[in-house]
Amino acid sequence: MTEALQHTSTADDIRQIVADLGYPANWQWCWDNYKATILALSRARGLARHLEIGAGRDPLFQPSEAAELGLDITLNDISAHELSLAPSGYGKMLCDIAAPDGPDALGRGQYDLAYCRMVMEHVPDVAAMWRNIGAALAPNGVALAFFPTLYAPPYVLNALMPEKLSRTLLEAVFPERKPDGDDPKFPAHYNYCFSREDKLAPMLRAAGFSDWVILPFWGYSYFSKFPGVRELDAAFNRLAERRDWRSVSSFAYIIACK
Ligand SMILES: C[S@@+](CC[C@H](N)C(=O)[O-])C[C@H]1O[C@@H](n2cnc3c(N)ncnc32)[C@H](O)[C@@H]1O
Repeated sequence: MTEALQHTSTADDIRQIVADLGYPANWQWCWDNYKATILALSRARGLARHLEIGAGRDPLFQPSEAAELGLDITLNDISAHELSLAPSGYGKMLCDIAAPDGPDALGRGQYDLAYCRMVMEHVPDVAAMWRNIGAALAPNGVALAFFPTLYAPPYVLNALMPEKLSRTLLEAVFPERKPDGDDPKFPAHYNYCFSREDKLAPMLRAAGFSDWVILPFWGYSYFSKFPGVRELDAAFNRLAERRDWRSVSSFAYIIACK
């Protein structure tokens, strides 16, 4: 991360970065290329001070990678338990990313790049989360959130069902999602979890962002163990992707510039 390129804060730069990574609106791409996207943004814009929000037990970069890449990474999480399971060798910031005192807890203008994966759906007040991220970023800072979107059927079901029932069903199909497993389930709210520009733009503008790109993705593996439903659902998702039906997208990236 030694040579920061001169840049202007435009969504076009970001679109070019994701186009260069070969962006298709397919769910496998968003999982496979999350880290590559963060790295490409870091490199293109010289963004070295990172804040990983809701990093949990499994941060995106290992401390040795961060050192190699010249990144100064702070891990945030609301859960002391999750942060304690993360390796040492980072700054750690235990706080609710949406807390009213978030900007002071996180430090104003302290970060160049803030990002989170599968965290936004767990935050009840996402507008407050984005305001805090806006305050924590330096001028020209960038934020990326990767999250599941409504109204993909698995998330609609999860949102409608009592937490106890959805937890029991998910754990029955995917045992690794149990509380003592590698990928425990956290309660989800889906506040602002959309891929539609009209739903997100006013909130991002109010949080102090000047420009953004919203990338939708369709598909998921939730029905992978249910033949019949799996094929029907996959066909529907392919159709929705071709027609750009964002109201039924499955995931999104918001990449926003301050
Ligand atoms: C599904 S896990 C994702 C962990 C990690 N980002 C990943 O992709 O592997 C959600 C994480 O977000 C954290 N979290 C939930 N609400 C949060 C909040 N308001 N502020 C900060 N972290 C939060 C949880 O404690 C948990 O570690």
